[in-house]
Amino acid sequence: MNTPARYFILVLVIIISLHYILSFAHEEYGRVTSISNITSKFRQKPIIDDLSVGATIPDSNAGTTTHPVTPSTTEKATVNPPSGSSNSSGLVYDRRANATFVILARNTDIDGAVRSIRDIEDRFNRKYRYPYVFLNEVEFDDNFKQRISVLTSAPVEFGVIPHDHWFQPDWIDEDRAKAGREQMEKDRIIYGGSVSYRNMCRFNSGFFFKHPLVQKYRWYWRIEPDVHFHCDINFDPFVFMEDNNKRYAFTITMYEYHATIPTLWSHVKAFTKLHPEHIAQDNALGFMSTDGGDSYNLCHFWSNFEIADMDFWRGPAYQAFFEYLDKQGGFYYERWGDAPVHSIGAALFLSKNQIQFFDEIGYEHNPYTHCPQNKDTWKNSRCSCDPKRSFDYDGYSCMSKWDKFMGK
Ligand SMILES: *[C@@H]1O[C@H](CO)[C@@H](O)[C@H](O)[C@H]1NC(C)=O
Ligand SMILES: *[C@@H]1O[C@H](CO)[C@@H](O)[C@H](O)[C@H]1NC(C)=O
Ligand SMILES: *[C@@H]1O[C@H](CO)[C@@H](O)[C@H](O)[C@H]1NC(C)=O
Repeated sequence: MNTPARYFILVLVIIISLHYILSFAHEEYGRVTSISNITSKFRQKPIIDDLSVGATIPDSNAGTTTHPVTPSTTEKATVNPPSGSSNSSGLVYDRRANATFVILARNTDIDGAVRSIRDIEDRFNRKYRYPYVFLNEVEFDDNFKQRISVLTSAPVEFGVIPHDHWFQPDWIDEDRAKAGREQMEKDRIIYGGSVSYRNMCRFNSGFFFKHPLVQKYRWYWRIEPDVHFHCDINFDPFVFMEDNNKRYAFTITMYEYHATIPTLWSHVKAFTKLHPEHIAQDNALGFMSTDGGDSYNLCHFWSNFEIADMDFWRGPAYQAFFEYLDKQGGFYYERWGDAPVHSIGAALFLSKNQIQFFDEIGYEHNPYTHCPQNKDTWKNSRCSCDPKRSFDYDGYSCMSKWDKFMGK
Protein backbone atom coordinates (compact mmCIF):
# COMPACT_ATOMS: atom_id res chain seq x y z
CA MET A 1 0.00 0.00 0.00
CA ASN A 2 1.35 3.43 -0.87
CA THR A 3 1.52 6.33 1.57
CA PRO A 4 -1.46 8.44 0.35
CA ALA A 5 -3.69 5.34 0.56
CA ARG A 6 -2.56 4.70 4.17
CA TYR A 7 -3.32 8.33 5.12
CA PHE A 8 -6.68 8.08 3.47
CA ILE A 9 -7.59 4.97 5.50
CA LEU A 10 -6.35 6.60 8.73
CA VAL A 11 -8.48 9.70 8.11
CA LEU A 12 -11.45 7.51 7.33
CA VAL A 13 -11.00 5.54 10.56
CA ILE A 14 -10.75 8.77 12.57
CA ILE A 15 -13.91 10.18 11.01
CA ILE A 16 -15.86 6.98 11.65
CA SER A 17 -14.65 6.75 15.25
CA LEU A 18 -15.50 10.39 15.87
CA HIS A 19 -18.95 9.79 14.48
CA TYR A 20 -19.53 6.90 16.88
CA ILE A 21 -18.12 8.72 19.90
CA LEU A 22 -20.32 11.72 19.17
CA SER A 23 -23.35 9.50 18.59
CA PHE A 24 -22.95 7.94 22.00
CA ALA A 25 -21.95 11.05 23.84
CA HIS A 26 -24.54 13.35 22.28
CA GLU A 27 -27.95 11.87 21.67
CA GLU A 28 -28.94 14.90 19.64
CA TYR A 29 -26.04 14.44 17.21
CA GLY A 30 -26.93 10.75 16.85
CA ARG A 31 -30.52 11.54 16.08
CA VAL A 32 -29.76 14.14 13.44
CA THR A 33 -27.29 11.99 11.55
CA SER A 34 -28.68 8.51 12.01
CA ILE A 35 -29.47 6.66 8.79
CA SER A 36 -33.05 6.02 9.83
CA ASN A 37 -33.49 9.74 10.46
CA ILE A 38 -32.17 10.60 7.05
CA THR A 39 -34.27 8.04 5.22
CA SER A 40 -37.33 8.89 7.24
CA LYS A 41 -36.94 12.48 6.10
CA PHE A 42 -37.06 11.31 2.51
CA ARG A 43 -40.03 9.11 3.29
CA GLN A 44 -42.09 11.94 4.62
CA LYS A 45 -41.56 13.97 1.49
CA PRO A 46 -44.08 13.70 -1.30
CA ILE A 47 -42.93 11.36 -4.08
CA ILE A 48 -42.58 14.23 -6.55
CA ASP A 49 -39.85 15.78 -4.36
CA ASP A 50 -38.02 12.51 -4.15
CA LEU A 51 -37.58 12.52 -7.89
CA SER A 52 -35.37 15.58 -7.64
CA VAL A 53 -33.06 13.95 -5.10
CA GLY A 54 -33.38 10.51 -6.64
CA ALA A 55 -30.06 10.84 -8.43
CA THR A 56 -28.14 11.30 -5.17
CA ILE A 57 -29.51 8.23 -3.39
CA PRO A 58 -28.90 4.63 -4.38
CA ASP A 59 -31.71 2.72 -6.01
CA SER A 60 -32.34 0.54 -2.99
CA ASN A 61 -33.02 3.64 -0.90
CA ALA A 62 -35.18 5.14 -3.61
CA GLY A 63 -37.25 1.99 -3.33
CA THR A 64 -37.90 2.56 0.35
CA THR A 65 -38.81 6.21 -0.19
CA THR A 66 -41.87 5.25 -2.19
CA HIS A 67 -42.84 2.34 0.04
CA PRO A 68 -46.13 3.40 1.63
CA VAL A 69 -45.04 3.09 5.25
CA THR A 70 -46.71 6.27 6.41
CA PRO A 71 -50.08 5.79 4.65
CA SER A 72 -50.57 2.33 6.09
CA THR A 73 -49.87 3.51 9.63
CA THR A 74 -52.23 6.46 9.35
CA GLU A 75 -54.79 4.12 7.82
CA LYS A 76 -54.51 1.88 10.86
CA ALA A 77 -55.18 4.82 13.11
CA THR A 78 -58.25 6.04 11.26
CA VAL A 79 -59.59 2.65 10.25
CA ASN A 80 -59.87 1.13 13.70
CA PRO A 81 -62.10 3.36 15.78
CA PRO A 82 -61.65 1.55 19.07
CA SER A 83 -62.54 2.87 22.45
CA GLY A 84 -59.11 3.87 23.68
CA SER A 85 -55.59 3.41 22.38
CA SER A 86 -53.38 0.41 22.94
CA ASN A 87 -50.50 0.54 25.42
CA SER A 88 -47.34 -1.55 25.64
CA SER A 89 -49.20 -4.62 26.87
CA GLY A 90 -51.44 -4.45 23.78
CA LEU A 91 -54.59 -3.75 25.76
CA VAL A 92 -56.93 -1.14 24.36
CA TYR A 93 -59.64 -0.54 26.89
CA ASP A 94 -60.30 2.40 29.21
CA ARG A 95 -62.95 0.44 31.06
CA ARG A 96 -64.37 -3.00 30.95
CA ALA A 97 -67.75 -4.51 31.65
CA ASN A 98 -68.52 -7.04 34.37
CA ALA A 99 -68.41 -9.82 31.79
CA THR A 100 -67.14 -13.27 30.87
CA PHE A 101 -67.09 -15.77 28.05
CA VAL A 102 -69.06 -18.93 28.80
CA ILE A 103 -68.17 -22.14 26.98
CA LEU A 104 -69.99 -25.41 27.49
CA ALA A 105 -67.79 -28.25 26.29
CA ARG A 106 -66.90 -31.90 26.76
CA ASN A 107 -63.33 -33.14 27.08
CA THR A 108 -63.62 -34.60 23.59
CA ASP A 109 -64.43 -31.11 22.22
CA ILE A 110 -60.89 -29.93 22.91
CA ASP A 111 -59.77 -29.40 19.30
CA GLY A 112 -62.88 -27.41 18.48
CA ALA A 113 -62.60 -25.41 21.70
CA VAL A 114 -58.99 -24.55 20.87
CA ARG A 115 -60.04 -23.29 17.42
CA SER A 116 -62.78 -21.11 18.91
CA ILE A 117 -60.52 -19.59 21.55
CA ARG A 118 -57.75 -18.94 19.00
CA ASP A 119 -60.25 -17.06 16.85
CA ILE A 120 -61.77 -14.95 19.58
CA GLU A 121 -58.34 -14.15 21.06
CA ASP A 122 -57.02 -13.12 17.64
CA ARG A 123 -59.98 -11.04 16.66
CA PHE A 124 -60.93 -9.51 19.99
CA ASN A 125 -59.86 -10.73 23.36
CA ARG A 126 -56.07 -10.37 23.22
CA LYS A 127 -56.82 -6.63 23.45
CA TYR A 128 -59.42 -6.94 26.23
CA ARG A 129 -58.59 -10.02 28.30
CA TYR A 130 -62.10 -10.87 29.38
CA PRO A 131 -62.12 -14.03 31.49
CA TYR A 132 -63.33 -17.43 30.30
CA VAL A 133 -65.50 -19.91 32.17
CA PHE A 134 -65.60 -23.45 30.79
CA LEU A 135 -68.40 -25.71 32.01
CA ASN A 136 -68.79 -29.45 31.66
CA GLU A 137 -71.01 -32.17 33.16
CA VAL A 138 -67.82 -33.96 34.32
CA GLU A 139 -64.38 -32.64 35.40
CA PHE A 140 -62.24 -31.23 32.62
CA ASP A 141 -59.14 -33.35 32.15
CA ASP A 142 -55.60 -31.97 32.41
CA ASN A 143 -55.08 -32.11 28.66
CA PHE A 144 -58.13 -29.91 28.09
CA LYS A 145 -57.07 -27.40 30.76
CA GLN A 146 -53.49 -27.21 29.52
CA ARG A 147 -54.33 -26.81 25.87
CA ILE A 148 -56.79 -24.00 26.63
CA SER A 149 -54.60 -22.22 29.16
CA VAL A 150 -51.70 -21.69 26.75
CA LEU A 151 -53.94 -19.78 24.35
CA THR A 152 -54.66 -16.73 26.45
CA SER A 153 -53.34 -14.53 29.20
CA ALA A 154 -56.89 -13.85 30.38
CA PRO A 155 -58.15 -15.68 33.49
CA VAL A 156 -59.63 -19.10 32.71
CA GLU A 157 -61.79 -21.14 35.07
CA PHE A 158 -63.07 -24.69 34.63
CA GLY A 159 -66.21 -25.84 36.39
CA VAL A 160 -68.45 -28.87 36.79
CA ILE A 161 -72.19 -28.40 36.39
CA PRO A 162 -74.20 -29.32 39.52
CA HIS A 163 -76.10 -32.58 39.02
CA ASP A 164 -79.57 -31.03 39.31
CA HIS A 165 -78.80 -28.36 36.72
CA TRP A 166 -77.99 -30.96 34.10
CA PHE A 167 -79.74 -34.29 34.43
CA GLN A 168 -83.36 -35.11 33.68
CA PRO A 169 -85.39 -34.40 36.85
CA ASP A 170 -87.13 -37.27 38.69
CA TRP A 171 -90.56 -35.78 38.18
CA ILE A 172 -90.29 -36.22 34.39
CA ASP A 173 -92.32 -39.25 33.32
CA GLU A 174 -89.56 -41.29 31.68
CA ASP A 175 -91.99 -43.53 29.76
CA ARG A 176 -93.55 -40.50 28.14
CA ALA A 177 -90.14 -38.94 27.49
CA LYS A 178 -88.88 -42.17 25.92
CA ALA A 179 -91.92 -42.44 23.68
CA GLY A 180 -91.29 -38.85 22.55
CA ARG A 181 -87.65 -39.60 21.75
CA GLU A 182 -88.50 -42.74 19.80
CA GLN A 183 -91.10 -40.92 17.75
CA MET A 184 -88.63 -38.13 16.91
CA GLU A 185 -86.00 -40.67 15.92
CA LYS A 186 -88.51 -42.28 13.59
CA ASP A 187 -89.27 -38.86 12.15
CA ARG A 188 -85.50 -38.33 11.73
CA ILE A 189 -85.43 -35.11 13.72
CA ILE A 190 -81.91 -33.93 14.47
CA TYR A 191 -80.90 -34.98 18.04
CA GLY A 192 -84.45 -36.37 18.33
CA GLY A 193 -83.31 -39.43 20.26
CA SER A 194 -80.71 -37.73 22.44
CA VAL A 195 -81.19 -37.23 26.18
CA SER A 196 -77.90 -35.35 26.63
CA TYR A 197 -78.87 -32.83 23.95
CA ARG A 198 -82.09 -32.22 25.92
CA ASN A 199 -80.07 -31.83 29.15
CA MET A 200 -77.96 -29.23 27.41
CA CYS A 201 -80.94 -27.28 26.07
CA ARG A 202 -82.55 -27.15 29.50
CA PHE A 203 -79.26 -26.18 31.15
CA ASN A 204 -78.68 -23.36 28.65
CA SER A 205 -82.27 -22.19 29.03
CA GLY A 206 -82.42 -21.98 32.78
CA PHE A 207 -79.23 -22.78 34.65
CA PHE A 208 -75.90 -21.72 33.20
CA PHE A 209 -76.20 -18.22 34.69
CA LYS A 210 -76.65 -19.75 38.15
CA HIS A 211 -73.36 -21.63 38.10
CA PRO A 212 -71.10 -20.39 40.93
CA LEU A 213 -68.28 -19.51 38.48
CA VAL A 214 -70.69 -17.52 36.29
CA GLN A 215 -72.83 -16.02 39.04
CA LYS A 216 -70.23 -13.35 39.76
CA TYR A 217 -70.66 -11.77 36.31
CA ARG A 218 -73.43 -9.77 34.77
CA TRP A 219 -72.67 -10.06 31.02
CA TYR A 220 -71.72 -13.14 29.06
CA TRP A 221 -70.70 -14.02 25.55
CA ARG A 222 -71.54 -17.58 24.66
CA ILE A 223 -68.99 -19.44 22.59
CA GLU A 224 -69.18 -23.01 21.37
CA PRO A 225 -66.42 -25.33 20.27
CA ASP A 226 -65.55 -25.03 16.59
CA VAL A 227 -67.05 -21.65 15.82
CA HIS A 228 -65.25 -18.92 13.89
CA PHE A 229 -64.94 -15.19 14.21
CA HIS A 230 -64.20 -13.76 10.79
CA CYS A 231 -63.56 -10.08 11.51
CA ASP A 232 -61.54 -7.94 13.88
CA ILE A 233 -63.88 -6.74 16.59
CA ASN A 234 -62.63 -3.21 17.08
CA PHE A 235 -65.00 -2.26 19.87
CA ASP A 236 -66.17 -3.78 23.12
CA PRO A 237 -69.63 -5.30 22.59
CA PHE A 238 -70.22 -5.58 26.34
CA VAL A 239 -69.51 -1.91 26.97
CA PHE A 240 -71.57 -1.01 23.90
CA MET A 241 -74.53 -2.90 25.32
CA GLU A 242 -74.13 -1.41 28.76
CA ASP A 243 -73.93 2.12 27.36
CA ASN A 244 -76.84 1.70 24.97
CA ASN A 245 -79.28 -0.07 27.27
CA LYS A 246 -79.13 -3.33 25.28
CA ARG A 247 -79.66 -6.64 27.02
CA TYR A 248 -79.63 -9.33 24.34
CA ALA A 249 -77.59 -9.52 21.14
CA PHE A 250 -77.51 -11.88 18.16
CA THR A 251 -75.83 -12.30 14.78
CA ILE A 252 -78.02 -14.96 13.13
CA THR A 253 -81.78 -15.47 13.25
CA MET A 254 -83.71 -18.31 11.60
CA TYR A 255 -86.75 -20.59 11.73
CA GLU A 256 -87.02 -23.38 14.30
CA TYR A 257 -88.07 -26.92 13.34
CA HIS A 258 -91.71 -27.01 14.34
CA ALA A 259 -91.48 -30.72 15.19
CA THR A 260 -89.14 -29.98 18.12
CA ILE A 261 -91.56 -27.54 19.80
CA PRO A 262 -95.11 -28.62 18.85
CA THR A 263 -96.74 -27.34 22.08
CA LEU A 264 -94.26 -24.61 23.13
CA TRP A 265 -96.27 -21.68 21.82
CA SER A 266 -99.50 -22.78 23.53
CA HIS A 267 -97.59 -22.81 26.84
CA VAL A 268 -96.13 -19.38 26.07
CA LYS A 269 -99.64 -18.05 25.49
CA ALA A 270 -100.89 -19.63 28.71
CA PHE A 271 -98.01 -18.01 30.62
CA THR A 272 -98.72 -14.55 29.18
CA LYS A 273 -102.39 -14.87 30.26
CA LEU A 274 -101.30 -15.83 33.78
CA HIS A 275 -98.60 -13.14 34.02
CA PRO A 276 -99.46 -10.14 31.87
CA GLU A 277 -97.49 -8.01 34.34
CA HIS A 278 -94.19 -9.35 32.94
CA ILE A 279 -94.81 -8.42 29.31
CA ALA A 280 -92.72 -5.43 28.26
CA GLN A 281 -94.10 -2.30 26.67
CA ASP A 282 -92.89 -2.02 23.10
CA ASN A 283 -91.80 -5.68 23.08
CA ALA A 284 -90.59 -7.68 20.07
CA LEU A 285 -93.55 -10.05 19.87
CA GLY A 286 -94.36 -8.62 16.43
CA PHE A 287 -91.16 -10.19 15.09
CA MET A 288 -92.42 -13.65 16.00
CA SER A 289 -96.10 -13.36 15.41
CA THR A 290 -98.08 -11.33 12.90
CA ASP A 291 -101.48 -12.15 14.39
CA GLY A 292 -101.07 -10.51 17.76
CA GLY A 293 -99.46 -13.54 19.39
CA ASP A 294 -101.97 -16.18 18.33
CA SER A 295 -99.49 -18.14 16.23
CA TYR A 296 -95.71 -18.35 16.19
CA ASN A 297 -93.78 -17.94 12.93
CA LEU A 298 -90.86 -20.00 14.37
CA CYS A 299 -88.33 -17.13 14.11
CA HIS A 300 -85.72 -17.16 16.83
CA PHE A 301 -82.19 -15.94 17.51
CA TRP A 302 -79.55 -18.60 16.99
CA SER A 303 -78.33 -18.92 20.54
CA ASN A 304 -74.95 -20.61 19.95
CA PHE A 305 -73.86 -16.99 19.64
CA GLU A 306 -75.23 -14.75 22.36
CA ILE A 307 -74.06 -11.67 24.18
CA ALA A 308 -76.52 -10.87 26.89
CA ASP A 309 -77.24 -9.63 30.36
CA MET A 310 -77.54 -12.52 32.79
CA ASP A 311 -79.34 -10.27 35.26
CA PHE A 312 -82.16 -10.35 32.71
CA TRP A 313 -82.28 -14.17 32.80
CA ARG A 314 -82.00 -14.02 36.59
CA GLY A 315 -84.77 -11.44 36.87
CA PRO A 316 -88.39 -12.17 37.92
CA ALA A 317 -89.95 -12.22 34.44
CA TYR A 318 -87.64 -14.74 32.81
CA GLN A 319 -87.36 -16.82 35.98
CA ALA A 320 -91.15 -17.17 36.19
CA PHE A 321 -91.25 -17.99 32.47
CA PHE A 322 -88.54 -20.65 32.64
CA GLU A 323 -90.05 -22.30 35.71
CA TYR A 324 -93.45 -22.39 34.08
CA LEU A 325 -92.05 -23.98 30.89
CA ASP A 326 -89.85 -26.40 32.80
CA LYS A 327 -92.90 -27.70 34.69
CA GLN A 328 -94.61 -28.53 31.39
CA GLY A 329 -91.80 -31.04 30.75
CA GLY A 330 -91.37 -30.04 27.11
CA PHE A 331 -87.58 -30.00 27.37
CA TYR A 332 -87.88 -33.82 27.63
CA TYR A 333 -91.30 -34.78 26.20
CA GLU A 334 -90.57 -32.72 23.13
CA ARG A 335 -87.16 -31.25 22.38
CA TRP A 336 -87.42 -27.58 23.23
CA GLY A 337 -84.25 -25.73 22.34
CA ASP A 338 -82.68 -22.97 24.40
CA ALA A 339 -82.73 -20.81 21.27
CA PRO A 340 -86.53 -20.45 21.00
CA VAL A 341 -86.88 -20.31 24.80
CA HIS A 342 -84.31 -17.49 25.17
CA SER A 343 -85.61 -15.72 22.07
CA ILE A 344 -89.25 -15.78 23.10
CA GLY A 345 -88.25 -14.65 26.58
CA ALA A 346 -86.26 -11.74 25.17
CA ALA A 347 -89.06 -10.84 22.75
CA LEU A 348 -91.71 -10.78 25.47
CA PHE A 349 -89.91 -9.26 28.45
CA LEU A 350 -87.57 -6.74 26.79
CA SER A 351 -88.42 -3.73 24.74
CA LYS A 352 -87.47 -4.30 21.11
CA ASN A 353 -84.79 -1.61 21.34
CA GLN A 354 -83.00 -3.63 24.00
CA ILE A 355 -82.32 -6.37 21.44
CA GLN A 356 -79.22 -5.77 19.36
CA PHE A 357 -78.20 -7.20 16.00
CA PHE A 358 -74.40 -7.05 15.64
CA ASP A 359 -73.72 -6.79 11.92
CA GLU A 360 -70.07 -6.03 12.82
CA ILE A 361 -69.38 -9.47 14.24
CA GLY A 362 -68.50 -11.97 11.52
CA TYR A 363 -69.51 -15.31 12.97
CA GLU A 364 -69.68 -18.88 11.73
CA HIS A 365 -71.21 -21.95 13.24
CA ASN A 366 -71.37 -24.71 10.71
CA PRO A 367 -73.27 -24.60 8.38
CA TYR A 368 -74.15 -20.89 8.65
CA THR A 369 -72.09 -17.71 8.58
CA HIS A 370 -72.99 -14.13 9.29
CA CYS A 371 -70.67 -11.82 7.36
CA PRO A 372 -70.93 -8.02 7.81
CA GLN A 373 -73.08 -6.44 5.13
CA ASN A 374 -71.71 -2.95 5.70
CA LYS A 375 -68.86 -2.58 3.19
CA ASP A 376 -66.75 -0.29 5.38
CA THR A 377 -67.06 -2.63 8.34
CA TRP A 378 -66.14 -5.60 6.20
CA LYS A 379 -63.03 -3.85 4.88
CA ASN A 380 -61.90 -2.08 8.03
CA SER A 381 -62.38 -5.17 10.18
CA ARG A 382 -60.30 -7.27 7.78
CA CYS A 383 -63.03 -9.85 7.43
CA SER A 384 -62.12 -13.26 6.06
CA CYS A 385 -65.71 -14.17 5.15
CA ASP A 386 -67.49 -13.61 1.85
CA PRO A 387 -70.28 -11.05 2.37
CA LYS A 388 -72.18 -12.55 -0.56
CA ARG A 389 -72.43 -15.81 1.34
CA SER A 390 -73.80 -14.32 4.54
CA PHE A 391 -76.79 -16.22 5.89
CA ASP A 392 -78.75 -12.99 6.51
CA TYR A 393 -80.86 -13.12 3.39
CA ASP A 394 -80.95 -16.87 2.89
CA GLY A 395 -84.49 -18.19 2.56
CA TYR A 396 -84.18 -19.85 5.93
CA SER A 397 -83.08 -16.68 7.72
CA CYS A 398 -85.47 -14.41 9.62
CA MET A 399 -83.25 -11.36 9.10
CA SER A 400 -85.53 -9.66 6.58
CA LYS A 401 -88.42 -10.11 9.04
CA TRP A 402 -86.28 -8.52 11.77
CA ASP A 403 -85.36 -5.59 9.51
CA LYS A 404 -88.99 -5.07 8.58
CA PHE A 405 -90.13 -5.32 12.18
CA MET A 406 -87.49 -2.80 13.28
CA GLY A 407 -88.53 -0.47 10.45
CA LYS A 408 -85.31 -0.70 8.44
C1 LIG B 1 -34.43 13.27 13.35
O1 LIG B 1 -33.78 14.46 13.72
C2 LIG B 1 -34.59 15.51 14.26
C3 LIG B 1 -33.73 16.70 14.56
O2 LIG B 1 -33.36 17.30 13.36
C4 LIG B 1 -35.31 15.00 15.49
O3 LIG B 1 -36.19 16.01 16.00
C5 LIG B 1 -36.11 13.77 15.16
O4 LIG B 1 -36.72 13.23 16.35
C6 LIG B 1 -35.18 12.71 14.53
N1 LIG B 1 -36.00 11.56 14.08
C7 LIG B 1 -35.70 10.31 14.37
C8 LIG B 1 -36.57 9.28 13.77
O5 LIG B 1 -34.76 10.01 15.07
C1 LIG C 1 -52.44 -1.05 29.80
O1 LIG C 1 -53.80 -0.71 29.92
C2 LIG C 1 -54.53 -1.54 30.80
C3 LIG C 1 -55.96 -1.08 30.75
O2 LIG C 1 -56.10 0.31 30.87
C4 LIG C 1 -53.96 -1.47 32.20
O3 LIG C 1 -54.66 -2.33 33.04
C5 LIG C 1 -52.51 -1.90 32.13
O4 LIG C 1 -51.93 -1.76 33.39
C6 LIG C 1 -51.76 -1.02 31.13
N1 LIG C 1 -50.40 -1.47 31.01
C7 LIG C 1 -49.38 -0.65 30.88
C8 LIG C 1 -48.05 -1.29 30.77
O5 LIG C 1 -49.54 0.58 30.88
C1 LIG D 1 -70.95 -8.25 38.52
O1 LIG D 1 -72.30 -8.63 38.32
C2 LIG D 1 -72.80 -9.58 39.23
C3 LIG D 1 -74.20 -9.93 38.76
O2 LIG D 1 -74.98 -8.78 38.62
C4 LIG D 1 -72.78 -8.98 40.62
O3 LIG D 1 -73.24 -9.94 41.55
C5 LIG D 1 -71.37 -8.57 40.96
O4 LIG D 1 -71.35 -7.91 42.21
C6 LIG D 1 -70.81 -7.62 39.91
N1 LIG D 1 -69.43 -7.37 40.18
C7 LIG D 1 -68.93 -6.15 40.16
C8 LIG D 1 -67.46 -6.04 40.42
O5 LIG D 1 -69.60 -5.16 39.94
